[in-house]
Amino acid sequence: MEIKGTTRVLGLIGNPVEHTLSPLIHNTIAEKMGHDVIYVPFLVQEDVPAAVRGAYELNVLGLNATVPHKQAVLPALAEIDPLAEKIGAVNTLVRTEGGYKGYNTDILGLHRALLRQGIDLKEHDTALIGCGGAARAVAFLCGDSGVKTLTILNRTAQKAEDLACELRKFYPGMTVQVKTLQEAGEILEGTDLAIQCTSVGLASAKDPAAETACPVQDEAFYEKIRYAYDLIYRPARTPFLARVEQHGGRGYNGLDMLLYQGICAYELWMNVAVPEHVAEEVYRLMEKAVKA
Ligand code: ATR
Repeated sequence: MEIKGTTRVLGLIGNPVEHTLSPLIHNTIAEKMGHDVIYVPFLVQEDVPAAVRGAYELNVLGLNATVPHKQAVLPALAEIDPLAEKIGAVNTLVRTEGGYKGYNTDILGLHRALLRQGIDLKEHDTALIGCGGAARAVAFLCGDSGVKTLTILNRTAQKAEDLACELRKFYPGMTVQVKTLQEAGEILEGTDLAIQCTSVGLASAKDPAAETACPVQDEAFYEKIRYAYDLIYRPARTPFLARVEQHGGRGYNGLDMLLYQGICAYELWMNVAVPEHVAEEVYRLMEKAVKA
């Protein structure tokens, strides 16, 4: 693309930022849609609020925040979307008159990715595997979407219990149950959707055996699950998804979520709708990049 005096800057702040797919996502969308913007990664090591203020002064149109800065950006925001506020994490900063407004498009992207596969959360009793930052965000999406029952499965029961307490306060109509991973067969009656949010099964350069691991062993669990979403996209088919599919269920990996978190962010920054054919082209490039 040609950089001109009119070119607006979008960017990512994180640490590290070297392996991000976000420049591929956003620069491809900009090119396909003919927009005069460029997306660049910025390594921010320490003072995150100073980086956000600096970006605003430099007229940066929008930012993504990635690990470990999704909480650290909060004090630097002028405004925050209510769902992002409940989750307590922001990955997208949209320029407004008085400063940036924070959103959590990780979770808006998951919602869109699920709907695109025909999965409407409010129609499914759901099992959530894990209790870290990603799982917490998914739990609030479940609450906001009107999921009737949620079983939280986690290695450490106390962490799941703490999250369940918080959810019950926000969503008194939702039944929330907690189980350990060993008790996964005891998910609430009718549960047919599972969202896998732990790092178990993630490919690791340091530990090649890591991607053969599966967080849930209990056969009774897999007999109940018809649809499963794994936030991991490397490898494309985790042992967890493989087990779901062996039992006749349908499995989806996290690459769609990554794509749609980017698309939701781009749409907020540029105030446009990204057409589906552009989304598909970006998805194919992401698949190639992940395999490379
Ligand atoms: P993130 O913020 O990316 O979601 P995290 O906060 O480190 O990551 O959370 C990781 C999740 O994966 C937790 O639910 C963790 O379980 P604990 O709460 O018991 O720590 C889960 N997890 C990580 N390694 C695991 C393993 N080997 N077996 C089972 N669960 C694991």
